[in-house]
Amino acid sequence: MRSAFPTAPVTTMDVSDNTNTHPDPFVIRECHPEEAEALLALWQAAGTSPSVTDTITDIRGSIESSATVLIAEVDQRIVGSLIATFDGWRGNMYRIAVHPDYRRRGIGRALVAEGERCLAKLGVKRITALVEEKYPWAVAFWSSVGYEIEPGIVRFFRNP
Ligand SMILES: CC(C)(COP(=O)(O)OP(=O)(O)OC[C@H]1O[C@@H](n2cnc3c(N)ncnc32)[C@H](O)[C@@H]1OP(=O)(O)O)[C@@H](O)C(=O)NCCC(=O)NCCS
Repeated sequence: MRSAFPTAPVTTMDVSDNTNTHPDPFVIRECHPEEAEALLALWQAAGTSPSVTDTITDIRGSIESSATVLIAEVDQRIVGSLIATFDGWRGNMYRIAVHPDYRRRGIGRALVAEGERCLAKLGVKRITALVEEKYPWAVAFWSSVGYEIEPGIVRFFRNP
């Protein structure tokens, strides 16, 4: 099932008129299935922790599901990503990533804002994000965009 969200560009930001010095505007839009390989390349360049689901087939599956897979694009280059999902009960965000050459320009913040906007349309009341606490920049980023650490929770997982 395709995502319920539009595939046209959803956000265009000209970052040249804020405190950021980079002149290139970026666009946030939904990722297309044929861009799965480019998305995987972004994650590798961004240094996200690899997982068993980092395959073209799994990424394509996510893009073609009801999940919202957002990308940030500069000059037709994929430079950022976020996966936002809603299971009918709660919202989750995964794989926030911005290419090292494009960081600290508000792209990560804009991706989260767009993800929240998409989830809000579905009536989401609670959004969680899995964050690797060993990465201080990741903790600083999520704190900066308004998320709190929930004490006493650990993540259990199994790769069946
Ligand atoms: C985390 C990440 C997505 C941030 O993307 P970004 O586009 O640079 O983030 P933004 O420019 O929107 O930053 C928003 C705010 O987050 C905080 N922040 C972002 N990067 C930070 C860093 N390296 N150190 C401290 N704070 C940081 C700042 O408060 C920043 O606001 P400011 O620039 O006005 O000070 C990016 O660094 C990244 O892809 N890292 C590697 C992948 C990763 O660790 N993902 C998170 C896994 S949970």
